[in-house]
Amino acid sequence: MSLQEYYEDCYKSERRGPTDMVEDAVYTSKGLANYAIESKIKFLSSKDWQGLKVLEMGSGRGGLGLHLARMGADVSLVDFSPSALEQASQVYSLEGFKPNLVVADVGHPDVALPENYDLIVDSHLLHCVISDPERLSYLQLVREHLTPNGIFVAETMVHRKKLFIPDGFMFDQKNTLWQMFGEWKPVRRILDSLDLEQELNTAGFNITYFMYYANYAFIPHKNFMEIPSEIFPAAVRMVLQKKRS
Ligand SMILES: C[S@@+](CC[C@H](N)C(=O)[O-])C[C@H]1O[C@@H](n2cnc3c(N)ncnc32)[C@H](O)[C@@H]1O
Repeated sequence: MSLQEYYEDCYKSERRGPTDMVEDAVYTSKGLANYAIESKIKFLSSKDWQGLKVLEMGSGRGGLGLHLARMGADVSLVDFSPSALEQASQVYSLEGFKPNLVVADVGHPDVALPENYDLIVDSHLLHCVISDPERLSYLQLVREHLTPNGIFVAETMVHRKKLFIPDGFMFDQKNTLWQMFGEWKPVRRILDSLDLEQELNTAGFNITYFMYYANYAFIPHKNFMEIPSEIFPAAVRMVLQKKRS
């Protein structure tokens, strides 16, 4: 089973209706949405919220983008799971919004998006993109679709030396977390924060803001629950702009 099929199955097995999904999506993305809103106010003050072009990468049901649609933004959502985007569309229509939907694998080098965006957001996608070439394709996709002063706001998990690995998982030298699904599949890439900074630099970004949250523990998977939080990965929140050539 590919990672794409895995996510598609997870979304397909959803039994809740749009009203319950919207509550969950809005609640879980509230903290990062506030951070994205603050970042837009600080680093993109010349643009109004009304009609601001926003793209949520790896959106799932698009909870983060929904907060921004409520501010007046024109929101597009990208995910490689058609069911996730179908559910996002139902969730948004409850509030009268119609997001632009793009089914695409962001790690594929040939993906192109229909327009450029003032604000691109990523809530927990980057650590799902595993190999170096896929990560570079993803970061280039973001860079190429930012308007000249546009910002990329993301939250991702980073390694903190100690990491508990439950049965059914393994963690390799390239900081890839593997899960056993009958065969080993790579499911997360948990870089050290310094390696992440280097990667962003090499991909052509200026790092406008980069904060390591040691106290914010990331649960990589539901099988990691009930483990002391100091041996979970930590979180980084960041704001990037493209380097001028
Ligand atoms: C960890 S979930 C995060 C979902 C949502 N952003 C949130 O914060 O709740 C990762 C999402 O990214 C999508 N995804 C993972 N890899 C992807 C890829 N290579 N291209 C496009 N979407 C991807 C999955 O389908 C899933 O919806």
